[in-house]
Amino acid sequence: MTRPDHEETIFTWGAPPLKFGAGAADEIGFDLSGFGVRRVLVVTDPGVNALGAPSRIADALRCYDIEAEVFDGVHVEPTDDSMTKAVEYARAQGDWDGFVAVGGGSAMDTAKAINLLTSHPGELMDYVNKPIGAARTPPGPLKPLVAVPTTAGTGSESTAMCILDILSMKVKTGISHWRLRPTLAVVDPLLTMTLPPEVTASSGMDIVCHAVESYTARWYATFARKAPEDRVTYCGSNPVSDLWCEKAMTLLARSFRDAVHRGADDVAARSDMMMAATFAGMGFGNAGVHVPHANGYPIAGMVRGYRPAGYPQDEPMVPHGQSVSLTAPETFRFTFDADPERHLRAAALLDPRADRVNDQREQLPSVLVALMRDIGIPNGIGGVGYTEADVPDLVPGTMKQQRLLATCAKTPTEDDIARILTNSVENW
Ligand SMILES: NC(=O)c1ccc[n+]([C@@H]2O[C@H](COP(=O)([O-])OP(=O)(O)OC[C@H]3O[C@@H](n4cnc5c(N)ncnc54)[C@H](O)[C@@H]3O)[C@@H](O)[C@H]2O)c1
Ligand SMILES: [Zn+2]
Repeated sequence: MTRPDHEETIFTWGAPPLKFGAGAADEIGFDLSGFGVRRVLVVTDPGVNALGAPSRIADALRCYDIEAEVFDGVHVEPTDDSMTKAVEYARAQGDWDGFVAVGGGSAMDTAKAINLLTSHPGELMDYVNKPIGAARTPPGPLKPLVAVPTTAGTGSESTAMCILDILSMKVKTGISHWRLRPTLAVVDPLLTMTLPPEVTASSGMDIVCHAVESYTARWYATFARKAPEDRVTYCGSNPVSDLWCEKAMTLLARSFRDAVHRGADDVAARSDMMMAATFAGMGFGNAGVHVPHANGYPIAGMVRGYRPAGYPQDEPMVPHGQSVSLTAPETFRFTFDADPERHLRAAALLDPRADRVNDQREQLPSVLVALMRDIGIPNGIGGVGYTEADVPDLVPGTMKQQRLLATCAKTPTEDDIARILTNSVENW
């Protein structure tokens, strides 16, 4: 890492207000009535809609004289096509003055796009990050958006990010601007009791990666000084994000395995996982994630035949949480030298009882591999259908994620990424 002439002295940190706890979702009518909204669209996917929570929330809104309609057209792992269709639907139904997203990252991110493009003119690509889109700045405030996660994973309820698959380019990218941040996060662990073990495991690995990647991200003060108008939402690891990430890892250590293996009736484990997801969101949503997430984009975008249990079976997909975790062990071998202390501390927080391994570089990878084996994550990128021969095709997709790679404490070259992917064909 080359040191800039003028080092940064400033970091920023933001998150929406939070209402957390069993039953919190029942109070959304009251919460939204405080914003003076009259007509609200509840945004969800068909699987979550079938569980009943979106219509319960719509009914609760009506009790406060708020007109509410449910839109269940969210695509699981949204695409440019699915988001455009959702926006077209919302635009065609007249003016909305607020939104409630009920679901995982897919529903929350789609609601962010709907909110942006019904509050302001333009098309999706106008706002998508460069070089894929034009990265236009939202010209003004958005409408109130209440985010209600039903998975314990993405932390999208507290982030300013909206992630989508660009189908024609087989690449994932996003829109990233602080105005996209939800107005209020309502996090109710009871909504996650029905999560299948596979979704609990995959979305939980997303939490692990958010926490560990932000914790090991390049320190904010080592970047070049930015002008205020150039400040981005991701500013590198910093004292405030660190606190949230550390706490998220402690909660994961206590409850991740229980949530996967006995999640149907373990409210305490579900509650810990929801808190971990939200805390990690408050960490990575400001610090940023790096190589495992950058690799996750082509791993998910170039999927061929893989159809994971627990997810809709109509098309192949690598769920986000799996795609980002498969190269995490090898990435943390690569980044170890940049800050050994942080890697060892992350390992100790994630598994305080893990045996010490002789080679310190292996401590964090061994903790991650033990966890992934226990909860049924596929064995490396080979487990989701790739071989070593696919690595040259995956590398360019990772290299396009410059925003994320810049957050790595050790800037990776193409060869580094190729080595990380090759060594991740099998993780055990
Ligand atoms: N915006 C961000 O900050 C951010 C961060 C990380 C990931 N993401 C994005 O989020 C998406 C992934 O989101 P996710 O992992 O939360 O999953 P998801 O929203 O894609 O949902 C996964 C599956 O679980 C089902 N499901 C959701 N809640 C359920 C419940 N309570 N009970 C039973 N089934 C339930 C859904 O119907 C779906 O089939 C990806 O597109 C990813 O790129 C966004
Ligand atoms: Zn993620």
